[in-house]
Amino acid sequence: MLEQDKSFHISPFLLSVFTGFFLFHLVLSKIPLGSKLSVEENSSWVSPIGDFAIGFFNHSDQPNQYGVGIRFNSKSIPVGKQTVVWVAGAEITVGNKSYFQLSQSGELVLVDSLKGVMWTSKTSRSAVVSALLRDDGNLVLLDEMGSVVWQSFDNPSDTILPGQSLSIYKTLRAASKNSVSSYYSLYMNASGQLQLRWESDVMYWTSGNPSMSNLSAVLTSDGILQLVDQTLKPMWSVFGDDHNDAVNFRLLRLDVDGNLRMYSWEAVSKSWRSVWQAVENQCNVFATCGEHGVCVFNSSGSPECRCPFKITSDPNSKCFAQDCKSASSMVTYEHTSLYEIYPPTDSIILTSLQQCEAFCLRNSFCTAATFTNDGTAKCLVKTTPYFSGYSGPSLSSVSFIKTCSDPLPVDPHASRSSSAQSPAKHSHRLCIPCLVGAASGTFVLFAVIHLAIGCYIYRRRNMIWKKAALACMTSNSKGLMMLSFTEIKEITGNFKHQIGPKTYRGVLPNHQPVAIKELETTIEERKFRAAVSKIGSIHHRNLVKLNGYCCELGKKILVYEYVKNGSVHNYMEDDELSKRLTWRRRLNICLGVARAICYLHTGCREFVSHGTLKCENVVLDKNYEAKVSEFGLGIVHPEASCVREKDVEDVGKMLLILVTGCLQVGEVCELAYKEWIQGRPERVVDNRIDGGVDREELERMLRTAFWCLQSDERMRPSMGEVVKVLEGTLTVDPPPPPCASQSLPAKEALLESSSEP
Ligand SMILES: *[C@@H]1O[C@H](CO)[C@@H](O)[C@H](O)[C@H]1NC(C)=O
Ligand SMILES: *[C@@H]1O[C@H](CO)[C@@H](O)[C@H](O)[C@H]1NC(C)=O
Ligand SMILES: *[C@@H]1O[C@H](CO)[C@@H](O)[C@H](O)[C@H]1NC(C)=O
Repeated sequence: MLEQDKSFHISPFLLSVFTGFFLFHLVLSKIPLGSKLSVEENSSWVSPIGDFAIGFFNHSDQPNQYGVGIRFNSKSIPVGKQTVVWVAGAEITVGNKSYFQLSQSGELVLVDSLKGVMWTSKTSRSAVVSALLRDDGNLVLLDEMGSVVWQSFDNPSDTILPGQSLSIYKTLRAASKNSVSSYYSLYMNASGQLQLRWESDVMYWTSGNPSMSNLSAVLTSDGILQLVDQTLKPMWSVFGDDHNDAVNFRLLRLDVDGNLRMYSWEAVSKSWRSVWQAVENQCNVFATCGEHGVCVFNSSGSPECRCPFKITSDPNSKCFAQDCKSASSMVTYEHTSLYEIYPPTDSIILTSLQQCEAFCLRNSFCTAATFTNDGTAKCLVKTTPYFSGYSGPSLSSVSFIKTCSDPLPVDPHASRSSSAQSPAKHSHRLCIPCLVGAASGTFVLFAVIHLAIGCYIYRRRNMIWKKAALACMTSNSKGLMMLSFTEIKEITGNFKHQIGPKTYRGVLPNHQPVAIKELETTIEERKFRAAVSKIGSIHHRNLVKLNGYCCELGKKILVYEYVKNGSVHNYMEDDELSKRLTWRRRLNICLGVARAICYLHTGCREFVSHGTLKCENVVLDKNYEAKVSEFGLGIVHPEASCVREKDVEDVGKMLLILVTGCLQVGEVCELAYKEWIQGRPERVVDNRIDGGVDREELERMLRTAFWCLQSDERMRPSMGEVVKVLEGTLTVDPPPPPCASQSLPAKEALLESSSEP
């Protein structure tokens, strides 16, 4: 039976032990239908010679939370080092009354007595007659013929064992940390290239590229990671530093810090030792130190995350202030290179060191810049406050960070945290997330412990906590909570606080506020779930995050992150509130919206349109940064128009509204164009704007708006162009008369303008 499976693999060392006991144990170790493991009995299924076992394990810092997985069980490995190599349902955790069963229908199921079925192998139609945990650590389900119909080796978590292969489109995902599913994954692409990725868009390591289809990655028992073709011929290999040595156990794992490592069990030191790692310099793992963290090697040569930046006292303010009340200045960091993480692209300008600094200081959107000179002098300009970096004495790059010259007036938000004024404390606050990442190379007892650490924030009381834990899950789930209608009623206090059309405020048990939006759609449940999981996988700083959904009793409800300041529409409607939107804030809002739409159009795996962009759908956070909501609903409302050009037009409308303060774009568009073409653009500016406007920026805003509002859709710019023009990195010609429904032919406009005195 075993011989039928080509992937079966045993090390030479084991072979001698193995042959003697083979038949005897095979019979004993068959797992019949109906077999059950439970948390309470602390039972496990063990492989024939006992090298691996499957059973429940406790999440050490989450009392009463368990996972079920395969771990090493060999007597030569002490209990504390019996690493988990596979977890059912990746990061699902269950309570202490749970069980794992090979059901009578031939399906592996993980059942939580309170929550029901949490995971299944989905094999009830495959005529499974038994299961077997093999001595290579593969849990297989067999049919009557003894053929494998499902195996844990095909559904890897973060580890690959010798004999296991990672074929095309398969992914390993690092365990999560800090309550978010890991951004790091190892992916095998269709041309047979192994890729380490951060989110889906940044590749920070790739294997050699044999450019062949149907390759698989395998770890051999003698310590070689190979890409092999269908005849198992190696096309690319890397070697562990102990390859060919007699090592009993090896594994390849994508660690929490985003590095891929090969480990060997060292019998003498009784420890796992890293014998190869993909990214030699941990600081080169993308975003290894997270936002504002800088990766450095300490004196003992280990990577460490530091936060060297001077930060303003108000933790809510943008420390790399684009909106300084007073003048801004640049702080210089030698031997430091920075890169943007949201979005992961810098703009490059070819210029000198001095001009790089001066450019950033002058440009209102520049938050930081890095100057490098590898033969060509380059200024890498960052336009968002979200960046990360690395540093080292041999690095010739110089970075500049824009800061406000004077301390900001103390903000009410900040008053309680005045202790944070000590820079050390403040850095501490920012850098916690990165410290975990920096602890690389430490072979952690159970990989999943990281997930436990990550989810601790949610460790509160009742059922929704469980779902919040699910929200920390990886690959297959997109990290969305699924709530019942009863739970929705609970968290909204029976829909007590309405904050918009069909939108309510609610609070999760962990005190996190959320906005609940009920949709009117007749879309099929299956399609709805597919749509929300797609929307839930889209993350951008200027998009409101989708946290979960409810799809029950014919209701379709979305659970969004709650954004404090309400919508742009609320602000523009109210004379008092609109005064708070200074020119700079308005420009920033427009830029945020443009970036968000640009991301939807080009940053996601497939094109996503917004479809219904309007001031009601743009909310402002406490820093008046725009976050676009209700995006991608075109997927849910198939009837809605989902075209790029509609979004561009809507952005144009929003620009005009923010400039003029008039919510009726139809009425104001014609007038605005007329005034603009006659050289009096300031006449259309909202007179509620405190502190006036910047003439040059006004010109950019109006030109962009008019181009977006062209009635000939083909003449409208792309969102990428809109972002660049608003940022001031691209210039744009004067537009012809815009406004689809308006009756203002070009000639007339020009005649009128020329007849002006
Ligand atoms: C099982 O979990 C519940 C709640 O999580 C807890 O109150 C109870 O003490 C636990 N029982 C045991 C035997 O640990
Ligand atoms: C696989 O990745 C490589 C490198 O990024 C790329 O050149 C190739 O086109 C990819 N193959 C496919 C099928 O996407
Ligand atoms: C790759 O493998 C799949 C199934 O394993 C097969 O259908 C396909 O024809 C193979 N392609 C090539 C180019 O060998």
